[in-house]
Amino acid sequence: MAAYTRILITGAAGEIGSTLRAGLRGAYERLRLSDIRPLAPAEPGEETVQADLTDYAAVAALMQGVDCVVHLGGVPREAPWDAILPNNIAATYNVFEAAHRNGVSRIVFASSNHTIGYYRVGDEIGIEDPVRPDSRYGVSKVFGEALGRLYADKHGLSIACLRIGSFREQPGDFRQLSTWISPRDTVQLVRRCIDAPPFHFLVLYGVSANTRVRWRNPNAGFIGYRPQDNAEAHASRFPAPPAGGADPTVEFHGGPFCGLEFDGDVGRIE
Ligand SMILES: NC(=O)c1ccc[n+]([C@@H]2O[C@H](COP(=O)([O-])OP(=O)(O)OC[C@H]3O[C@@H](n4cnc5c(N)ncnc54)[C@H](O)[C@@H]3O)[C@@H](O)[C@H]2O)c1
Repeated sequence: MAAYTRILITGAAGEIGSTLRAGLRGAYERLRLSDIRPLAPAEPGEETVQADLTDYAAVAALMQGVDCVVHLGGVPREAPWDAILPNNIAATYNVFEAAHRNGVSRIVFASSNHTIGYYRVGDEIGIEDPVRPDSRYGVSKVFGEALGRLYADKHGLSIACLRIGSFREQPGDFRQLSTWISPRDTVQLVRRCIDAPPFHFLVLYGVSANTRVRWRNPNAGFIGYRPQDNAEAHASRFPAPPAGGADPTVEFHGGPFCGLEFDGDVGRIE
């Protein structure tokens, strides 16, 4: 039996949450599944709780009797500040603070590759490189990682930040030949983070074993993550776009997010 047995998943009605719900069923004594949207009725070993993560009291109630949180809830893409501020920033603060105050000892936080979006695609990026968010969304994930560092250092929580690439059944474009993570690899990654022996603070890229991966992922080995899927099986469907130009959606790791509202100068981004 794993050390952590009572798991809360926020954002459990979403794409990744639904996959984890199915993939983790039966693996832990209790899965508490929460979302602002309605959830399918609880099965044995599950509890469902509809809650808005912007409401601190509701988040504190979610933490009762939980020892590990998988925090997925929030806006999963670029959005106006009015949506990012409450759902990604204030809500993530509520989750970390309520977890700490209620005795939760591990948080697995769904961060994003958009924390490092404005690096050039030709540069391999690790976990020590300074963040370069490509959007308000990316900034919100940097904030979440910083909260993780704070709660690990100041309060001794065990924190894993997953810089998830592109979660889908199959890669959907040329960029995703590098960034794709399959559903079964996602389940394995989250499971390894929940089950790993004590650790302080980890950043990991959430990516399958893609031949074209552009990220160094040293902590994957540490927690025993062994991805099984490789986007290369789909490579023939996605020819490379012309590179070396001024299109920010092609030149940088963050792809389309780098082009949104862009009125900078690609040539000046070193
Ligand atoms: N899907 C990807 O490829 C990908 C990549 C990088 C990071 N992520 C991150 O993983 C997480 C899950 O992504 P997803 O693709 O499943 O997104 P999703 O939109 O399908 O799921 C997110 C869930 O969060 C819930 N939510 C939003 N605001 C909330 C609030 N205030 N209170 C409670 N619940 C709220 C939504 O109702 C939704 O069900 C997100 O944090 C996202 O940023 C996803």
